Amino acid sequence: MRYEVDFLIVGSGIAGLSYALKVAPYGKVCILTKGEASEGSTRYAQGGIAAVMYDSDSFDKHIHDTLVAGDGICDREVVEMTIREAPERIRELIKYGVNFDLDQTGGRYDLHREGGHSEFRILHHKDNTGAEIERGLLEAVRSHPNIELKERQFAIDIITQHHLGQRVTKHTPDIECYGVYALDCDTNRVDTYLARTTLLATGGMGNVYSTTTTPLISTGDGVAMVHRARGVLKDMEFMQFHPTSLYNPAEKPAFLITEAMRGAGAILKDTKGREFMQKYDPRLSLAPRDIVARAIDNEMKLSGADHLYLDARGIGRDELIGGFPTIYAKCLEIGLNITKDMIPIRPAAHYQCGGIAVNMQGESSIHNLYAAGECSCTGLHGGNRLASNSLLEAVVYAHNAAMNAITRVKNASNNEPWCRVPDWNADGLVLNEEQILITQTKKELQEIMWNYVGIVRSDLRLRRAFDRLNLIYRETEDLYNRSVLTEPLCELRNLIACSYLTIKMAMARRKNVGLHYSLDLLDNSVKA
Ligand code: FAD
Ligand code: SIN
Repeated sequence: MRYEVDFLIVGSGIAGLSYALKVAPYGKVCILTKGEASEGSTRYAQGGIAAVMYDSDSFDKHIHDTLVAGDGICDREVVEMTIREAPERIRELIKYGVNFDLDQTGGRYDLHREGGHSEFRILHHKDNTGAEIERGLLEAVRSHPNIELKERQFAIDIITQHHLGQRVTKHTPDIECYGVYALDCDTNRVDTYLARTTLLATGGMGNVYSTTTTPLISTGDGVAMVHRARGVLKDMEFMQFHPTSLYNPAEKPAFLITEAMRGAGAILKDTKGREFMQKYDPRLSLAPRDIVARAIDNEMKLSGADHLYLDARGIGRDELIGGFPTIYAKCLEIGLNITKDMIPIRPAAHYQCGGIAVNMQGESSIHNLYAAGECSCTGLHGGNRLASNSLLEAVVYAHNAAMNAITRVKNASNNEPWCRVPDWNADGLVLNEEQILITQTKKELQEIMWNYVGIVRSDLRLRRAFDRLNLIYRETEDLYNRSVLTEPLCELRNLIACSYLTIKMAMARRKNVGLHYSLDLLDNSVKA
């Protein structure tokens, strides 16, 4: 089947949905999403969204905290723009129907604090802010007559001149995007979506690692598509590991214990119940995430333990149960009463700071192709994202991209290449009956990445990962070239592409900065 739209969106998290609501008055909008519409990192977000809402705080302080967390390599102009726009974008979310908690007076928003923040500035909805944002935006999108939301549609590749038979390399100056090919997961047919503008809002790639807080859909599809289309990607070496995921080994994704709990007074402890953060940073349990995750990793390696603890017992019972009802209920489910028991925790891959390089309007290096949310790299996070700045980045860039795309669609005239775009060719391909080839390779990949490209790296570990990945890459490309497409196979291929980019960029970064930490660069001198 062939479809033609003005605004094509891949992804139905905060970035895709908020963009859709902005562009909808200006043309035909289609959102493709590979699972159920609500499934994505957005709905799992706990802590909240950072913004300067009152005079007790200031833009300068939020800017400063963001720059410090980013370890000196944020784009200052981007940081300033994002943080100054934040209150306006938050007011829009509220207008769309999203509820944030009010304080006891009922007149002001209740603000939390998380690691790296010098002020209480995190708007939240109890400890399930993301679910509330996703609910509010989805309701608004579903009731908009110009927006079609199509579930179980897996975008495979961006359509460019390559599909018109032209040679496209990373040096081709004007790569253009005409839309995407997408697999209908119910019929197994590949459809052609032609669009005047396309937004990738495909989220993160946490499933490159064996332990991650991100949902199963986070497989870096948008990043991999842009890589294959020869677009520009950036900062892929900066994978953020969240210090405190619940230690419950069989569970995927790992359940998050929000940093807001440390903001409320919970303390990290070792297996003997002793505090240890004083050895690593004067900000103790509320130091930025990279420092806390490395400290936990080091303590676990020193003691041989497979987890440490977060002690929330010092927080009053009412505040604990009232403020963190989701975490309280989850822990009870596995036999832990967090008002009495310490919570077993370990770090988990959580957020990809790098991704598709975009400018301040959300434009990628490929014409007519925008990216927003976690799949993009704006320059806001630099070497390490400040907590609760990603939901914010997603709404700010969805807005900026929408404004740009609206103008582009208004001025668009020439759709001539569309009629030359061929349909997907599946001739001669057979159904791969051996699912084990895919599941086992995915596990291998995730272990390689966890063990060699994790919180602490070295030249040897990266080289080892690169060599192992090469074999996996060749085997999987061979399988892909002779198989009918399936979602697991496409995801595996995308995870491999993201792993490759992560390792390559980690090898090229010859200085420890932000989340990139190598034992071979400990003196922090630049090496040849
Ligand atoms: P997502 O919400 O992940 O949505 C991605 C969408 O793309 C999904 O709809 C998916 O189905 C679709 N998709 C992907 N690939 C394809 C494809 N090939 N074809 C079709 N559709 C596709 N950030 C904060 O700022 N504050 C927090 O408190 C916070 N807490 C978090 C807690 C957890 C447990 C996690 C995992 C993350 C948290 N984050 C938080 C990070 C934040 O939630 C994410 O960065 C943000 O929600 C990403 O939004 P998004 O719209 O970019 O992607
Ligand atoms: C958390 O609630 O700790 C996660 C916040 C974030 O990832 O920004």
